[in-house]
Amino acid sequence: MSERHIPVLLDEVIAALAPQAGERMIDGTFGAGGYSRAILATAGVHVLGIDRDPSAIAAGEALGLAHLTIRSGVYSDMEALADAAGFAPANGIVLDIGVSSMQIDDAARGFSFQKDGPLDMRMSSDGPSAADVVNRGSEGLIADILFHYGEERRARAIAKAIVAQRKDKKFEQTSDLVAAVVSVLGRGRPDQIHPATRTFQALRIFVNDELGELARGLAAAERLLAPEGRLAVVTFHSLEDRIVKRFLAARCGRQAGPSRHMPQLPSATPSFSQLEKGVVSASDEELARNPRARSAKLRAARRTHAPAHKADALDFNVPAVSSEEWSR
Ligand SMILES: C[S@@+](CC[C@H](N)C(=O)[O-])C[C@H]1O[C@@H](n2cnc3c(N)ncnc32)[C@H](O)[C@@H]1O
Repeated sequence: MSERHIPVLLDEVIAALAPQAGERMIDGTFGAGGYSRAILATAGVHVLGIDRDPSAIAAGEALGLAHLTIRSGVYSDMEALADAAGFAPANGIVLDIGVSSMQIDDAARGFSFQKDGPLDMRMSSDGPSAADVVNRGSEGLIADILFHYGEERRARAIAKAIVAQRKDKKFEQTSDLVAAVVSVLGRGRPDQIHPATRTFQALRIFVNDELGELARGLAAAERLLAPEGRLAVVTFHSLEDRIVKRFLAARCGRQAGPSRHMPQLPSATPSFSQLEKGVVSASDEELARNPRARSAKLRAARRTHAPAHKADALDFNVPAVSSEEWSR
């Protein structure tokens, strides 16, 4: 049985959301419900918990908590889900991006290079799995995924090794993928991160379209929040944090380094004001309790009364992997 997920930056997230009696809040990444339960500790607040993982939904429903509504789905669909459940407009939205400890620890989900299991990595049970991607994707697509979503410098060499290996035997297990990566990068030193870390992260991000979800989810949150509503987003690596940082900079009227290829458009009235100065990370005390919080970053902002800006993927700096050949 896997350990329950320890919510990261919990006090900081609740301080940013500042729930008040009578408010409606959305937890777009319910997981084990750590944030939802802390929000519900404020009497009279209603929470809509969303998760794409059927096991998180089942566990959430089993909690049987008053004032908690659970819905299965992706958080980029939060507007429709909130509307149908009577949660629109919302006074607070929290997103805790990435995988939960329950997902990582369950070998059968295929997220972990440390435990052997089927090479799956889907948070929900639909769509292509990681095994489908490495067995059917072109060498170029696999290399692009590893380079853009894993920041893996040896992406091309690993993609080549994957394509060579699958001619002999299709990839089925996480250990098959670990072996392909190790054949290129070696086993690494014990004081270094595991050589398969970046490859596993990249495939997980691609399989679950995590960066696309994040970009669409931020735009949906902007439209769904009531004036004065609070947005809190926790990320775990620089690819995700960059998207949130850039989105909030644009929406708070501080465009972060606009592309020199983009025409300078007259800036719309800020739709958010920053709640914290920059980024919040875990305290030493939290790190001692939960080393997983090491790379967690919180950014939070308050919705203004201005209309939502037009959503534009370029605002968010989402690294694009061309998946034309790959029909989702
Ligand atoms: C880091 S955990 C959240 C943990 C939670 N904050 C807690 O305290 O227990 C992330 C959760 O978000 C879910 N998730 C990830 N991407 C999602 C998406 N696009 N839509 C809905 N749920 C998503 C995952 O299935 C996982 O359960």
